[in-house]
Parts: sequence; structure tokens; C-alpha cells
Amino acid sequence: MHCTRKVTDDVVWIGGSDRRLALFENIFPIPRGVSYNSYLLKDEKTVLLDTVDRSIAEQFLENLAYALEGRNLDYVIVNHMEPDHCALIRDILVRYPQAQVVGNAKTFTMMDQFFDFDLTGKTVTVKEGDTLETGRHTLSFIMAPMVHWPEAMMTYDTVDKILFSADAFGTFGALNGNIFADELDFERDWLDDARRYYTNIVGKYGAPVQAVLKKATGIEIAVICPLHGPIWRENLSYLLEKYQTWSSYEAEDQAVMIAYASMYGNTENLANVLACRLADAGIRNIAVYDVSNTHVSQLIAESFRCSHIVLAAPTYNGGIYPVMENYLNDMQALAVQKRTFAVLDNGTWASTAGKQMAEKLSGLKDVKILDTKITIKSALKEAQLEQLDALVNEIKADF
Ligand code: FEO
Repeated sequence: MHCTRKVTDDVVWIGGSDRRLALFENIFPIPRGVSYNSYLLKDEKTVLLDTVDRSIAEQFLENLAYALEGRNLDYVIVNHMEPDHCALIRDILVRYPQAQVVGNAKTFTMMDQFFDFDLTGKTVTVKEGDTLETGRHTLSFIMAPMVHWPEAMMTYDTVDKILFSADAFGTFGALNGNIFADELDFERDWLDDARRYYTNIVGKYGAPVQAVLKKATGIEIAVICPLHGPIWRENLSYLLEKYQTWSSYEAEDQAVMIAYASMYGNTENLANVLACRLADAGIRNIAVYDVSNTHVSQLIAESFRCSHIVLAAPTYNGGIYPVMENYLNDMQALAVQKRTFAVLDNGTWASTAGKQMAEKLSGLKDVKILDTKITIKSALKEAQLEQLDALVNEIKADF
């Protein structure tokens, strides 16, 4: 059965959600599922804005047929070629053979790479600022390279001021009937997933996101329709400000995150003792994570949120304990920067993890590594509490 919702008088949401998929892109856990949004503009011409992932093909095709009410489909705009949105282009062209496919030059290069169908005479190639008249509406195209792939673009309805923003402003999480952010408690229930989505999917591309945000300030936006998660038609500044913070790599919260790795609980004890002493010193909302039991995408999201990050890990095979090393590599890959770090390590003999962690961190941009470095030998001893207090004082002074 069809399952659609009206976005505006002329736009219908015809997407759906997948609550079965365990890993988005086969890497990111999505316990709350994910939505694949697709939109139909019904004007003198009918325009489909992106398709969906193959996992919800049946629902989507039924939604599209219902929303069209027997009309033909005139255009398919492909804002993004990642298969979670473009998987059904072939199916659309088989069902609606008269439809023209709208994309930019890179879109069609990728379409050739992914598919084998012949699009001769069926393509409309657009570039920045080009427009498409559909009757009452005029759509203009905004290139958004690297948000999240090089061909990504956005479509802006200049009449109703709707920005079809592709991956930007999206989030993990299935939609549960309420497709609008103003129908949900976004901050309570969605913000963490929105941050985890942004930081892990486009976190590396802060500069291109900033470029798109700059373009967005030049247009009036009433509604943001992303390809994942809720649609925004109120309080847009809340979301735009979050994107501004994340893409400029500024910390969202003045907060301490302690990420520890521990084989037998001794490094964990070090982390816990430090957390209690930080709390005694008045630091609130401390976040402590066991890196072995926290998905690295969550650690990355928290690294974007918190201003101060304490890392504690044992030495392992003469190197950094592997899960901590993986987290550090991900920080590098996703361009974490502008943070203050503290480094603690543990070793029963020849402890070198702290030195190696500090070296890796020094490869990040604009980071500060606090002077107080603590090495415990197997377990924290009374005599080292003074060192911990020195670290607490240094963190407080830097706060
Ligand atoms: Fe939701 Fe980059 O695809």
C-alpha cells in the first residue's frame, strides 16, 4: 500500500525507511534504521527528485505511481549518484520511458560507470545556476561537490523556496510517520544521529560544506528537503548553525571526553579516577567511552562535539592498542581538528603508546596536546595521583 505525505501543495514525499539494515554503507551501525527520501513535484510537468535504495524499491514505486495519479513522469532529477539514492533509475526509465534525466556532467559520467543503459536523447545536463521551468515552478541547480561525492548537487525551487539538499542536512534514523522535524523532538531524539551521520559521512569535507552554506545564505529557504531524515520547515537556523559548527570543526560543547582502551581494567580504572577528579574540580557532563565497546563512528561524532579529548591506552605489540589506533586513524581521515588532547598510557614493560598517540595527534590540524602526560605501569598507584591532579588542573586551566 502507498505511504506518502504532502510536503507543500505541489510536493509529495514518496520515500520510505529501512529498519532491517544493520550497517549503512556496510560500515555504520544504524540501530534506528535509515530513511531514503524521494520527492515528487507536481506542476504542469511532473518531476521526481532522486530515487531510493533498492531495499525499499517496492514501497517507493507504489508511492510514485500513487502520487502521479495516472500522469506521466516528465523529469527525474539526480542530485546524487550514490546507490542509496540512484539505485532505481533503470526501473524508473523502464516504467516511465518518456522521462528525461537531469544531472550535471559528472552525474552522467557516474551513471555510465554504475549502469549499462542507453540514455541517448534522454538527458538534460545542467550546471551551476541553470534553471528548469516546470510550469508554476522554476527549479535552479546548485552544485555541491564533495557533499558528499564530486557530482552532488542541490535543486532549489525558486517559487516555494524549497531546497532539495541531497545528503546535506540528513541524518540516520527511520522516519516514523512524522517526516517533519517540527513533528519530532529533534534535539532529544535525532541530534546525536544527525551529528554521527554528518561527521562520518561528510566530516572530511568541511570546506566544501562551508562553500555550500555560503551559497545558502544568498537564497531564501523556507523548506529543506534532505535525502535522509526529517524535512525542515521551521527553525532552519538551528540546523544551519549546527552545520556551520561542524563544518568549521569548532567544538559544539565545551566538554571533556575520555576515550580509553583497557585489556584488564587497569587503564579503565585510570580513566574512571581521572573522571571523578575532573568532576570534583567542577567539570560537568564528562563523557567516558570504552573504545573497544563503542563504534568508532560514535567516537568520531563525540570528537566533533567535545572541546577536550583525553585518550588512554595500553601499549600493544610495541604499538598503540589496535582499537585506539583505529580511532586515531579515523580522526585523521575525517579531519578532526581544533581540539585539546591529553594522552595517558599503560605498559607493564616498554610503554610507548603515549608517545605514539601524541605523534599521530600532532598530524591533526590546530590541535593542542597538554603537557601533563601520564604513564602507568600495569596499574595506577597512589603515588601517581599527584600527576592526575596536575592533569586535572591543566584541563581546567584550558577550559
Ligand atoms: Fe545518502 Fe552519499 O548518499
